[in-house]
Amino acid sequence: MSDAAPATAQDVQRPSAETLHAAELAALAQRDRLERAVVPAGWHLSPRAVVDFVLGDPRQGITTKFVGERAFVERCVVALATNRGLMLIGEPGTAKSYLSELLAAAVSGDSTLTVQGSASTTDDAIKYSWNYALLLDRGPSLEALVPAPVHRGMSEGKVVRFEEITRCPIEVQDSLLSILSDRILTVPELAGPDRVLHARKGFSVIATANTRDRGVNEMSAALKRRFNFETVRPIRDHAREVALVQQQSDAALAAAGLSVRVPGDLTDVLVTAFHELRTGRSSDGTPVEQLSTAMSTAEAISVAVTAGLRSAWFSGGAPTGADLVEALVGTALKDEAEDLSKLRSYFSRAVQPRKGRRWRELYDARHRILD
Ligand SMILES: Nc1ncnc2c1ncn2[C@@H]1O[C@H](COP(=O)(O)OP(=O)(O)OP(=O)(O)O)[C@@H](O)[C@H]1O
Ligand SMILES: [Mg+2]
Repeated sequence: MSDAAPATAQDVQRPSAETLHAAELAALAQRDRLERAVVPAGWHLSPRAVVDFVLGDPRQGITTKFVGERAFVERCVVALATNRGLMLIGEPGTAKSYLSELLAAAVSGDSTLTVQGSASTTDDAIKYSWNYALLLDRGPSLEALVPAPVHRGMSEGKVVRFEEITRCPIEVQDSLLSILSDRILTVPELAGPDRVLHARKGFSVIATANTRDRGVNEMSAALKRRFNFETVRPIRDHAREVALVQQQSDAALAAAGLSVRVPGDLTDVLVTAFHELRTGRSSDGTPVEQLSTAMSTAEAISVAVTAGLRSAWFSGGAPTGADLVEALVGTALKDEAEDLSKLRSYFSRAVQPRKGRRWRELYDARHRILD
């Protein structure tokens, strides 16, 4: 028997975007009312307010959440208002899932209608299943039906998120065809008007797919036609990437109850090194061998947080280059032996010649992972 008290909002590891940013969503809805902005049927906010929620608007106290081009986010929002779904594709860790969560939170006020795609995803997990006790007792009826995210999204008029759609078997992916084109879901077991569910306004699907996983090419042409494809790219602007990694690692360390933060010049070195290992080119043009691991912004944030925890718990004081090197184990170096030799050559070619205290610290600690 558990004696744990019920979880409060503070206990939750990761509150959903609509909970975390409830005040901002309310302020944007209020702005829409004051400005008499046109809000599409079934949406909680106007398209412009959705974009401002995602990208932030400092004048109105709306924080930046996703770092990206405005035109790109506008295209995503427009796609959601059409009769097609939105497919976000891209490298791992480019915030596809995060962007889909933010869009669902802003458009529908609910980002929790989510299907997690995998090889074992079945129709039940997408559309509906049955409460067998009620089914046996009363036969097929709406009461006995247990709605899954797509059923709920259609009946409540909300955005449904379909994560990693290309990991699902093709037949399962294709079960979305009639839902996306005709906007109806037939429940053959039910009789009468309950048999056909017509999607309410506001329903749409945001799918995500990782370009490193099984290819998007394996999706059926018919399903591809029912989605607008948008590629989420890694952050291009160095300063914005540094600021994001700093802000997110500061927040994670503060949430862990620690007062340490990764020094700004160390964050800069971390982001630079990840960028070089990701793109295969150092800032002075020297070729760098790319690692097999995706050196994404998400991984950089996780390395910064790990370095912060390590220094606070075991080294004392603010993190240094040595903590960063230790934190690379397990993030950059997964199980690929080849990556170790590529990293070795990165240290001798790109790290060693660099001036600056943080680069020196990094180079001096190289034996911790490279020996
Ligand atoms: N452009 C960005 N703007 C804001 N945060 C970003 C950006 N890129 C990466 N991040 C950070 O990376 C984290 C992880 O992103 P997320 O899990 O959404 O990536 P993903 O593209 O879905 O990855 P995967 O392909 O592995 O599922 C985000 O929560 C955020 O902290
Ligand atoms: Mg994802």
